[in-house]
Amino acid sequence: MAHDEVVDRYSGLARAALSGEKIVDCDPGEFDQGCFGAAAYDDTTGLPQGALNASLGCGNPVAVAELREGETVLDLGSGGGIDVLLSARRVGPYGKAYGIDASQDMIDLARRHAEGVPNVEFLHGTIEHIPLDDQAVNVVISNCVVNLSDDKPAVLAEAFRVLRPGGRLGISDVVTVSPLDPVQRAAAEQRVGCVAGSLEVEEYRELLHRTGFIGGKITLTADHGDGVHSAIVQAAKPAIGPGLEIRPMRDADADQVLAIYQAGLDTGQASFETVAPSWEGFAASRILRYVAVDTETDQVVGWVAATRVSSRPVYSGVVEHSVYVHPGCQAHGIGRALMTAFIGAAEDAGIWTIQSGVFPENAASLSLHQALGFRIVGTRERIGQHHGTWRDVLLIERRS
Ligand SMILES: C[S@@+](CC[C@H](N)C(=O)[O-])C[C@H]1O[C@@H](n2cnc3c(N)ncnc32)[C@H](O)[C@@H]1O
Repeated sequence: MAHDEVVDRYSGLARAALSGEKIVDCDPGEFDQGCFGAAAYDDTTGLPQGALNASLGCGNPVAVAELREGETVLDLGSGGGIDVLLSARRVGPYGKAYGIDASQDMIDLARRHAEGVPNVEFLHGTIEHIPLDDQAVNVVISNCVVNLSDDKPAVLAEAFRVLRPGGRLGISDVVTVSPLDPVQRAAAEQRVGCVAGSLEVEEYRELLHRTGFIGGKITLTADHGDGVHSAIVQAAKPAIGPGLEIRPMRDADADQVLAIYQAGLDTGQASFETVAPSWEGFAASRILRYVAVDTETDQVVGWVAATRVSSRPVYSGVVEHSVYVHPGCQAHGIGRALMTAFIGAAEDAGIWTIQSGVFPENAASLSLHQALGFRIVGTRERIGQHHGTWRDVLLIERRS
């Protein structure tokens, strides 16, 4: 369904709710089974009846978001506002809960339900272009909305942008566990209402990973038949220090990434290489590429990336990585943060061995890797010459 049709449909439901009706957007039988709507919540004490009647979700994202006092939360596609009101309670008077919805009627409905609640705000806008600054929130939640978007990569990229480093994503959504044929899809759509754009579990996981999230976890919560399930989707934005964030490497980072690479090579302790490769050569062979950037200036302060060790299937889960930090930014935990994000992403991608070679003289790199679970598996003595001197290399690896 196109975006305008989705908004028209929910605007009609919002107007019905504004005139006092209890609304549903799928087979009422699904509501009776407790899969959708307010039945998914354990404790709704004190919420306005109108907010309960207008609940059109497919789970309870607030239950998994582990909200803490003082945090800022954003609910994507907030509808009648039930999850915003519950979040506002959890984060307390020093926290804040935002809702965003593309339907002005839904915004009007939610504002009515939130009358007198000081720490909520409803924004009219789309989840593909969220009207909030970068790093504005600690947690992004959503309840049965992402499946409706015809641009899911944009939705997840926006969620990633507005999350602070270390921020969490907790989404209730409708997913499929296998490709649906057109007949199955039509039947499921009639029952569940919002299957048309739902992703397969593996596609969802891959999209989270490509966006830069780590720790992606998809838990099926209710089976609606024909391979259609409600699910809770959880992931995190990699954490670093204040003013810094980790995100996937882009082509626009090329000059800065290669300059940091060259600066590392120039120390003589990073690699046998002496000249950084061209961007084309670098980008073609590197996977799991991340940069740490200064969020004010977008200056790259470090990067991590891996290459596959072999094209043979038996080695499909074995990679060799490199991590480089700008010479002016070392000893600030950037290498550790990059490596932590990288290890999380590698595990999400099914990598079972991360390996590398380190010069024994590079004590900082060695202790960073050992602190993160790498062990020395051997020494290759006098393996090659570097600027005319024979050097040893310690082989290190980390198994997942
Ligand atoms: C299934 S309802 C869920 C509402 C709410 N999350 C709940 O649990 O009751 C979907 C909501 O998402 C909104 N929506 C759909 N697509 C949207 C988009 N691209 N941007 C913002 N809101 C959207 C609709 O207007 C509607 O209010």
